[in-house]
Amino acid sequence: MSTAAAHRPAADAEWWRTAVIYQIYPRSFADASGDGIGDLAGITSRLDALAALGVDAIWLSPFYVSPQHDAGYDVADFTDVDPVFGTLDDFDTMSERAHELGLRVIVDIVPNHTSSEHTWFKQALASAAGSPERARYIFRDGRGDDGSEAPNNWQSVFGGPAWTRVHREDGAPDQWYLHLFDVTQPDLDWTNEEVRAEFDRILRFWLDRGVDGFRVDVAHGLAKEANLPDFEIADDIDSMAGAQTGHPAWAQEGVHDIWRRWRAVVDEYGGDRILTAEAWVSPLTRMAQWVRPDEMHQAFNFPYLMSKWDSAALRTVIDDSLEAFEAVGAPSTWVLSNHDVVRHPTRLSLTVPSPQGHGIGPDTPGIPEADTAVRRGRAATQLMLALPGSAYLYQGEELGLPEVTDIPGDARQDPTWHRTEGERYGRDGCRVPIPWSSDSPAYGFSPTGLTWLPQPDAWAGLARSEQEGDEGSTLSFYKEALRLRREHGMATGTLTWIEDLPEGVLGFTVGAVTVIANVSGDPLPLPDGQNILVSGLATGTLPPDTTVWMLR
Ligand code: GLC
Repeated sequence: MSTAAAHRPAADAEWWRTAVIYQIYPRSFADASGDGIGDLAGITSRLDALAALGVDAIWLSPFYVSPQHDAGYDVADFTDVDPVFGTLDDFDTMSERAHELGLRVIVDIVPNHTSSEHTWFKQALASAAGSPERARYIFRDGRGDDGSEAPNNWQSVFGGPAWTRVHREDGAPDQWYLHLFDVTQPDLDWTNEEVRAEFDRILRFWLDRGVDGFRVDVAHGLAKEANLPDFEIADDIDSMAGAQTGHPAWAQEGVHDIWRRWRAVVDEYGGDRILTAEAWVSPLTRMAQWVRPDEMHQAFNFPYLMSKWDSAALRTVIDDSLEAFEAVGAPSTWVLSNHDVVRHPTRLSLTVPSPQGHGIGPDTPGIPEADTAVRRGRAATQLMLALPGSAYLYQGEELGLPEVTDIPGDARQDPTWHRTEGERYGRDGCRVPIPWSSDSPAYGFSPTGLTWLPQPDAWAGLARSEQEGDEGSTLSFYKEALRLRREHGMATGTLTWIEDLPEGVLGFTVGAVTVIANVSGDPLPLPDGQNILVSGLATGTLPPDTTVWMLR
């Protein structure tokens, strides 16, 4: 057992039912080496701040060997660290320090595809059609007399066709391979036992190093309908197609066998390690299939994330979530932001739909003024943190960071921007390196001042150093909310709605706490009771976009 494994927090088989899990996006969290890209040593140096924030666990987006064509979600070696992020020793040091601080460590695992730089894919390219090397991926002959048409009409999530044709060494055209994402992310064939066995090995590699769980990328992909039939995605469906049934690449029944196998592997390690599904499926009753007792522990509640800032919509999605997850014995999860969506303080005011991954630009309708964004963002967070179950936070939301909308085209890095020739902005706006101190180079992100995406000037004022110790800051608000959530056992409570509130107002009790969220446009007289936390200024009335927690 490695040292990191020896230091795991005390076993508590049920910790994840109520945990607040903080997503670290390593490229943009803290850069110790000074190359402008965050790294593991940077994370280690900043873990105290996360322990002080009051979260229970961290989830790290990928830091594995990768050519970084999709910011590390294109993995070339699943059991080693990319030099950009450091070394395996740096991982152990980071993990040990997190565990000392009582923070559990969840890593990302990307099983739907590898990088095209992965040894397996290179072997596949060097081998003939029909070879065992090609059988690890999804290679098919093209359609048409000369095979020059893609095997089916599927589109990549990032735009453009989901198939690319390869060529033999002499330049002659050959088969096509499937990539649901970028051309550098070939899909694996999960009907192949060699692929399944390899991922058992990868899971054990990280479990042996002491990780507390895995966030499983594209957990509704992997299994594809046999024969790969053509399929038309409806116009109004986002590119992960979660809301559309019958898609031959998403949410196929076959994925569940894989998760049962993974659950058995994870359970070998004592019962307190977890699997969390990134499964863009709806409705929630369908998503709950991912967290049946012998499958994963949690699934990101994307219907909640995608809900509008509207009292009726929120009430419905909260009810549906509690009901659907409870029916399979899993906790509900709650999430508002991550590295694929527009940051919620900005998103919740947009007046146009904001599909996952599309991003926004300076002209997108509804971009709020800074103070509106902060107020609504906090109110939404305070509502979320009152809900029973487990919650996910995304780095920087505790600082109230808005989406960055004005990144110049030539600085953008998301393949979505390039593959759609600028038609979709992509996800860079939520991935900008976060500010730590107002008067340091790169606001404390990197000692050299380099940043892989430009930071807005306004972020000086949002830096952690500015907010630390300021009672009215978003950071202080998050700390207080997390402390009170724990102190009052809100995550384990039962939610009971308060009826007969004015239109646009949501109210419920959870344990001894009464929660009122003013989602309407009008101020609301504050009910009687002792305020324990208010997300916006409130004296006698609760302004619009404000949530309050009270003791009766
Ligand atoms: C997931 C990740 C996203 C990535 C994609 C392909 O949706 O969250 O960032 O681009 O999978 O791996």
